[in-house]
Amino acid sequence: MNIKSFFEIISQSWWKLKFDKTHQSAYKNVNCLKIMALVLLILLIVCAIVATVILVNKTKAIESCEGVCLGNHRVYSKDDWGGKPPVSSVPLSAPIELVIISHSATTPCDSFETCSAMVRSFQEWHFEINLTDIGYNFIIGGDAGIYVGRGWDVRNFHRQGSLGINFIGDFNFDQLNSSMIDAAKLLVKEGLKLGKLSEQYLLVGHNQTTTRLPLSPGEIAYREIKTLPFKWAMTVPI
Ligand SMILES: *[C@@H]1O[C@H](CO)[C@@H](O)[C@H](O)[C@H]1NC(C)=O
Ligand SMILES: *[C@@H]1O[C@H](CO)[C@@H](O)[C@H](O)[C@H]1NC(C)=O
Ligand SMILES: *[C@@H]1O[C@H](CO)[C@@H](O)[C@H](O)[C@H]1NC(C)=O
Repeated sequence: MNIKSFFEIISQSWWKLKFDKTHQSAYKNVNCLKIMALVLLILLIVCAIVATVILVNKTKAIESCEGVCLGNHRVYSKDDWGGKPPVSSVPLSAPIELVIISHSATTPCDSFETCSAMVRSFQEWHFEINLTDIGYNFIIGGDAGIYVGRGWDVRNFHRQGSLGINFIGDFNFDQLNSSMIDAAKLLVKEGLKLGKLSEQYLLVGHNQTTTRLPLSPGEIAYREIKTLPFKWAMTVPI
């Protein structure tokens, strides 16, 4: 073997080595890509499953409200909650310009049984103070139910041209379940849709009216309703 052929052999094996290495790393890259694609695919599948579960649950929640509903809130008529007929009534003139949010300043409730019993007791109490019916247009319980008081067409005990929505509980202390706010939001939306509520309506807490009850609807409810896209007013004369 001469020197030249020796170098030829060396350089040939060097090239071979280099080729193998390149080949190997290319092979590694392909593997890496395959793994990444697999991970992406798994992620995609997981996302699809999560999205499906969320969607199905949402549909279920809406479907779980049977009877008369607003969104997934059950709407209970006076017959449903066991109310008595009014002594008399004055029609509520539309469009309603003002929404007044109050609280009941009682213990909260969390089921149809406890909430409907509360609503019946409010009616009894309002009859005792010589009101013609339960004072509010709508009452919202901690069960996320909407209890119809005087409804959309009868004047409430606040004043003509207003809609009285009452939250069951004492929201100087009790936590306001977000589903109660949601129910109030949907009621306002429904009022606009039905043409009962003026597009220029204002919303206030009970303590912002001049017949103020300083502690209604309570600091916790006041804070919540203030952050919502309601047309907020600072004070209104009543
Ligand atoms: C309700 O009316 C009755 C009969 O008119 C009266 O005796 C009673 O004092 C009134 N109650 C209140 C709280 O105003
Ligand atoms: C709000 O009320 C609903 C209906 O009763 C209930 O399912 C949910 O757990 C409550 N949420 C909170 C935060 O209390
Ligand atoms: C109504 O109550 C809230 C919460 O306690 C308070 O911050 C607000 O100043 C009150 N408004 C009036 C007009 O009294």
